[in-house]
Amino acid sequence: MSEIKIKKKYFDKVKLINHYNKKYFDGNISEISDADYDLLKKEIILLEKKYSFLKHKDSPSKKVGYKPSKIFKKISHRVPMLSLGNAFSEEDLLNFEKKILNFLSQNNDSHIAYSAEPKIDGISASLTYVNGKLKYGLSRGDGKEGEDITSNLATIKDIPKIIHSKDFPEEIDVRGEVFIRNSDFNSLKEKFANPRNAASGSLRQKNPEDTKRIPLKFIAYTFGFQKGLNVNNQHDYLNKLSEWGFKTNPLNKLITGIDKLIKNYDEIEKKRTNLDFDIDGIVYKVNDFTLQKRLGYVANAPRWAIAHKFSSNKAISEIKDIDIQIGRTGALTPVAKIKPINIGGVLVSNATLHNEDEINRKDIRVGDTVTVERAGDVIPHILSVDIKKRPKNSKPFVFPQNCPSCGSKTIKEFNSITKKKDAVRRCSSEGYDCDKISIEKLKHFVSKEAFNIDGFGKKIVESFWKLNLIKFPQDIFLLDYKKIEKLEGWGKLSVENLRHSINEKKNISFERFIYALGIRHIGLENAKLLSKYFGTFSKFKDLSKNNKFNELMNIDGIGETQVNSIKNFFSNKMNLIVLNELEKILSISNALKKRKKGLLNNKTFLVTGKLNGISRAEVKFLIEENSGTTVSGVSKKLNYLIIGEKPTKRKVINARELNIKIIDQVQFLKMLDKTS
Ligand code: IVH
Repeated sequence: MSEIKIKKKYFDKVKLINHYNKKYFDGNISEISDADYDLLKKEIILLEKKYSFLKHKDSPSKKVGYKPSKIFKKISHRVPMLSLGNAFSEEDLLNFEKKILNFLSQNNDSHIAYSAEPKIDGISASLTYVNGKLKYGLSRGDGKEGEDITSNLATIKDIPKIIHSKDFPEEIDVRGEVFIRNSDFNSLKEKFANPRNAASGSLRQKNPEDTKRIPLKFIAYTFGFQKGLNVNNQHDYLNKLSEWGFKTNPLNKLITGIDKLIKNYDEIEKKRTNLDFDIDGIVYKVNDFTLQKRLGYVANAPRWAIAHKFSSNKAISEIKDIDIQIGRTGALTPVAKIKPINIGGVLVSNATLHNEDEINRKDIRVGDTVTVERAGDVIPHILSVDIKKRPKNSKPFVFPQNCPSCGSKTIKEFNSITKKKDAVRRCSSEGYDCDKISIEKLKHFVSKEAFNIDGFGKKIVESFWKLNLIKFPQDIFLLDYKKIEKLEGWGKLSVENLRHSINEKKNISFERFIYALGIRHIGLENAKLLSKYFGTFSKFKDLSKNNKFNELMNIDGIGETQVNSIKNFFSNKMNLIVLNELEKILSISNALKKRKKGLLNNKTFLVTGKLNGISRAEVKFLIEENSGTTVSGVSKKLNYLIIGEKPTKRKVINARELNIKIIDQVQFLKMLDKTS
């Protein structure tokens, strides 16, 4: 082969591997199987070894940041790695503090001290130390289990490997952010879209030597499991971290009062462009650990912390078209297809229009010049229309009266709580009768919080659907792998991986299973409540036979809206078939029995009237923490009615008639004393 031909062959291969890298890091798209990728890499390196005249700045032999491998072992976090709720305005912050004060039952002029910490936009990691030695380091993963990336994390200079300090806890998971400085990112610009991708890619290299070549940094800010940590608040913990040899953010501050938080936020936002690391907001954490413990968690985020995101980026563009997307619950969401525009480093070509009312209120039309806003990770939306620039022949947008997917009538439901019609228009067909709804249901079924099937993302659902490989959830477990192997982009290895990840998920917890069904108004929290209530899948399924839907109203947290939605779900024959089919294939574990049998075990409680110095939410938390249950009405199932000031008379009378014990908050708290 001539030198020119060899060079061409070589450059084509380097170009190809870079194409795969870019797809993978910027779009998380894997267009090549791991095995084929490794082969391509090997071919390039072999060519370089054979022909000394071959050189390319983007060769995999020179550059790190290549496709991470899936070799990492998964390890459970002893304490889950949660996410944070977002605040975008002063109002959001005032609400955040109000909720905290309500929960703690403190009056509105009490003040809470917060640790205000700039939120670095990197990759979080959890480092486990035992007797002062770094034992392992995990990525966040899905929050419950992470990947064992110890050897890669160990290459980071900021991460201490041995800590001799006397007061360093016997065991602790030190958690923080891995990131790349903007100045260091400059040399990696061609490979990655942003510093965050670069940090993520290099952390997940097969070979730690590759990770070592990228100047990763680590800043510590919280902890997971701990034994022997002797600090009472976040501020002291951050100070201890630096004493122990960790880097902490020099811009961290202890602040009391929302007005001062805003002042600090404004100051840091002004400094933002001059910082050598990307920050996308400020995290506020209630400083006192005792208060944090009392406040606890809601779903996936702590009640005691919030991320105050930096103000959005705006840009002007033009609406090319308005598309109607159909969601899992049949909601029709209008989406503006806009002339692609770069907003804060991200190319935006879609903006949500929310619903029909929003289009009417703002009179948004195709052809309009609009201001688009992108705030944090939220989907971009249209802020305003420039009426002066509106084309003369423009016409108001007519919202479809029929579902664009299945042709069924679209309806706006009447909301019995707000006594108004919903702003959202919905497809009136039930579940699997509408193709688009079915596809969305399947996407939800495989999603992270539901079945979480590795490698089975939204794109795969769409492509398998088109190929008639899946129509109903049970089809996912009965795939024709021979057929898939013949499809473009699939190889033996990738099919084997897929089969493995699907089979792995045949064992599922009851609460995840309920959530995966995608019943409207049944999110993660409600799925948990239902799973606790029924205990087993067969009892849940029996609802279709025994029609005892009204009993569900006894579950604290479940209301009329949820009960109606569950009723609807069970009245649909197709849903019952799906349940039966899934039952045959899956092993659905029963709801977890409470770990400890606290003193309130098997006891049910209901609160009526205003309590003193303690909120209802906290009472509920205390009851559940001690293995008791709260119910929402007086019935034979109730053991204790806790009364405060001005209780609902009816409840007290009913409780007396049923011989239910009536106690006040002092008596209730005494019941807990015995447990401690
Ligand atoms: S605390 C339960 N502190 O923000 C508390 N997180 O959305 C969880 N982050 O995954 C995290 N700086 O990657 C915390 N000072 C800080 C942080 C911080 C950045 C990231 C972290 C986390 C995400 C939460």
